[in-house]
Amino acid sequence: MEIKGKEQEYKRLSQSKEFILGLLSFDRPDVGIILGTGLGGVADEIEAPVEIPYEDIPNFPVSTVKGHEGMLIGGKLKGKKIVAMKGRFHFYEGYDMGKVTYGAKLLCFLGIETFIVSNAAGGVNPQFSRGDIMIITDHINLFPRHPLQGPNDERLGPRFPDMYNTYDKDLVKLVEDTALDIGIKVRKGVYLGLQGPTFETAAEYRMIRMLGADAVGMSTVPEVIIARWMGTKVLGLSIISDLGLPDALETINHELVLKAAGEASPKLSKLVVSSVERL
Ligand code: HPA
Repeated sequence: MEIKGKEQEYKRLSQSKEFILGLLSFDRPDVGIILGTGLGGVADEIEAPVEIPYEDIPNFPVSTVKGHEGMLIGGKLKGKKIVAMKGRFHFYEGYDMGKVTYGAKLLCFLGIETFIVSNAAGGVNPQFSRGDIMIITDHINLFPRHPLQGPNDERLGPRFPDMYNTYDKDLVKLVEDTALDIGIKVRKGVYLGLQGPTFETAAEYRMIRMLGADAVGMSTVPEVIIARWMGTKVLGLSIISDLGLPDALETINHELVLKAAGEASPKLSKLVVSSVERL
């Protein structure tokens, strides 16, 4: 008998999960985290890390991009059981939404309570500065494909998921309080997700600001939708790597984004580790 698409996905997730749990020292992680541009440092804080290359995990998408660091890291962070994804899959690379979100789906399928996602983003709020950290309070989804398009598997989540409290208000507060206590300045704002890979024109940055966003980027939104669909609490953090101010626009490239993210990385890592400790 032919296994229908959704049935097959559930089976794929179950196989991936079984493989991972066979390598970890615990059955159910508390926290799942996607280490985006600039958050790689958090991985160094994980105690007794078990590193699992993506290519070893049954059904996990494999990156075709050269130099791409793809591995799942399981261990303890400040007493919490954690599974981190080092390396993510972007829509602009040509992966379909199923592959873009497989990692997030798997983390939630492992039973995590909290999903932390990070990225580098362009700031469109004129009060922001390069290197700022922004706690994401909401998003605007402008990706051309939806990760939940197609038949729905009710075992994973509802057909019409609610997007209320998508970025958990208690977690926003917890990170704000933590930041204050450890002396790190944070911003709060709305993240708008676009497919890329072009950065925006001045007119587009103006439009993005007019739509109500504070920052723009090419990731995060699909994975967050999946996490909310599966009922997992979400915390999102952006490093503002550049400013998209239409009347004072400066040239931008990937190297500048990486440089700014790298500079802000220790600050963001410290904030994440201290916040996880308080979960
Ligand atoms: N636009 C879109 N994505 C980005 C940017 C930007 O300015 N900076 C970092 N990621």
